[in-house]
Amino acid sequence: MAISAKFTMTNTADLALQISGASIGFDVDSPLIESLDLTITAGEIVGIIGRSGIGKTTLLRTIAGLLPHLQGVVNVCGSTLPAPPKRGEVGLIPQRLGLIQHRSVGYNAIMGALPRAPFWQTVFSMPSREIRESARDAISRVGLEGWTMESVNRLSGGQQRRVAIARSIVQNPKLLLADECLGELDAETAREIILLLRALADENGLGMLIVDHNPVRAATFCDRLFQIRGGRLLPVDPVKISDPSILAGLPQFGVGV
Ligand SMILES: Nc1ncnc2c1ncn2[C@@H]1O[C@H](COP(=O)(O)OP(=O)(O)OP(=O)(O)O)[C@@H](O)[C@H]1O
Ligand SMILES: [Mg+2]
Repeated sequence: MAISAKFTMTNTADLALQISGASIGFDVDSPLIESLDLTITAGEIVGIIGRSGIGKTTLLRTIAGLLPHLQGVVNVCGSTLPAPPKRGEVGLIPQRLGLIQHRSVGYNAIMGALPRAPFWQTVFSMPSREIRESARDAISRVGLEGWTMESVNRLSGGQQRRVAIARSIVQNPKLLLADECLGELDAETAREIILLLRALADENGLGMLIVDHNPVRAATFCDRLFQIRGGRLLPVDPVKISDPSILAGLPQFGVGV
């Protein structure tokens, strides 16, 4: 059912993510990020920028439950970590995509349905008609129709990114964590993917946390933008995105690059 995120902000059931007073990293005495507070509601796209090695991937992996947080409270889709949210509620597009390289585009897209597929379908590798149709629809939404049977390792880096996004569409999570999912895409394809992500947020009420290495582009499609800097998550005013103090240490790009 389509949810208009703009009108559902007050209900706590709409909270995709709620972090308070958290420290993130690998060493409690020297965390990568500390005193972290962040809330993402249904339908909201939140962007994260920051220079290489600052802790962006670590933050996403922590929210995904793949790394423990060092302090504070991390609540994901209503479950407080380390208690996991329901299967399939959190989607992660990792920086290295995590695709099964020697299998087809269609097979990889169908993998998104794994958390919700009945056990017997998983065991016998027999996805239902509904799952196959949702995979076909997702592949076409990312513009890869005609490539369904192609092996992923024969695709370009940008096309592989689109397969990873198709897999997430099939999964249909409440919170999508996307680590540089717009990398290696030409400007036109990146624009199409951004419109698709925006539509998923607006129509399906999907909350998103997106790492983008291009701060200028991120400011164009994120509802809120943050920068990790000096061990803190700091809000960025999109109007001031070209401020040299914000861009210091970040790669310089134009919109869409
Ligand atoms: N398993 C680990 N154990 C200890 N330190 C780690 C581990 N994984 C990453 N790090 C360190 O944590 C820091 C942050 O890494 P992270 O991958 O989160 O950076 P990033 O902001 O995503 O960088 P990039 O933009 O290059 O992807 C780096 O200094 C990295 O070396
Ligand atoms: Mg990273």
